[in-house]
Amino acid sequence: MGIPQQGMARDDVFTALDSFKEGDVRWREGNAFTLAYNAGADVVAVAEEAYRRFATENGLNTDAFPSLKRIQNDVVGIVGDWLQAGPDGAGFLTTGGTESLLMAVKASRERGRKERNVQQPNVVLPTTAHAAFEKGCYYFGLESRRIPVGTDWRADPDAMAAAIDDNTVLVVGSAPQYPQGVVDPIADIAALAAERDINCHVDACMGGVTLTYLARLGHDIPAWNFQVPGVTSISVDLHKFGYTAKGASVIMHRNKRLRAYQTFVTDNWLGGLYGSSAVLGTKSGGPWAAAWAVMHYLGDEGYLRLTAAARDACERLAAAIDAIPELALRAQPEATLLAFGAADPEQLDVFAVADALWRRGWYVDRQGPPASLHCTVNAVHQHRIDDFVADLRASIAEVEAASAQGQQGAYGTVD
Ligand SMILES: Cc1ncc(COP(=O)(O)O)c(C=O)c1O
Repeated sequence: MGIPQQGMARDDVFTALDSFKEGDVRWREGNAFTLAYNAGADVVAVAEEAYRRFATENGLNTDAFPSLKRIQNDVVGIVGDWLQAGPDGAGFLTTGGTESLLMAVKASRERGRKERNVQQPNVVLPTTAHAAFEKGCYYFGLESRRIPVGTDWRADPDAMAAAIDDNTVLVVGSAPQYPQGVVDPIADIAALAAERDINCHVDACMGGVTLTYLARLGHDIPAWNFQVPGVTSISVDLHKFGYTAKGASVIMHRNKRLRAYQTFVTDNWLGGLYGSSAVLGTKSGGPWAAAWAVMHYLGDEGYLRLTAAARDACERLAAAIDAIPELALRAQPEATLLAFGAADPEQLDVFAVADALWRRGWYVDRQGPPASLHCTVNAVHQHRIDDFVADLRASIAEVEAASAQGQQGAYGTVD
């Protein structure tokens, strides 16, 4: 279908768009255990209204939009407080976890080049670190050295140490890692970086908000933020457990000197001095304003409440999965993510279970190896766990009866 000859009526435009959504997962009702987060219709409405008001403002140059400079400073300042970054901490808003991780890789390459003349840089990271590190290594020309994790799915600092050489510019830990939802031993990983004076990035895209507030709620959370010596940067996605609109993450560096390796400046063209803080040039003010709005609408009290709700839902789901004999929980969740597989993969195909769940309206992520299903549990799920578990049981029974097979599918798409 090409562009219409004549413009459509406004109402017809929105009727058409709404109709496109009919087959989408019903995330507002809590049917998505991935990709979308919902702290309630009021919070979504605040995010959407703030987004609308700033959708056309451009974060490329905040000289023209002091509003966006103010918004970025406020948002980064709050995240800096969460991360205990102290007065020297310096960050930027990016469009998401992937862009934050790309910037962590780029900054470490630049630092290695400038301070130690590293020409063939490598990154040492566990097999569980997010795929965006792989993308960063590929885009920016670094070698990715993936190190197997232990039987508890946590990074193995000794094995990482053995893989580090003079060309290593970055070591990585996740809090928590995505695939099984456990927190890497950040202090041990950061110590490897501190001894060698290289970068250590903590990927807290998923856990930055949750772990901060879980600690405040009295959970025993091992140190993972800037309190840990050797951590040089941390990423926190606001469009995940910050419950704001898509397109908002913060990458925080320990200080401005380290942050300077992230930015890009050139005057090697005829258009004047060009500077950018991350990958994009023009960027909508919408996600920035939505982040500011939601953070101020919820406040500290709101995040405490939402974190408690999401954690409670996650613990109930983990307990329910533990009680289903056909399933094996990969690890006890340490934040609000969990993964599970078949107790006996010969007897049950979990991807077929995911197909059966989707027919019942539920969307979960599929991953491997080993073949597993993955749930990112957020506040919207607090009243949906019982429904989900009932449908999970029914789906298992259906798959067993039919000996059905499913496809792994993909975490993201390319067409
Ligand atoms: C631990 C972790 N890091 C990074 C990312 C990438 O985030 P985004 O999809 O916002 O680019 C994700 C996404 O789920 C993640 O779980």
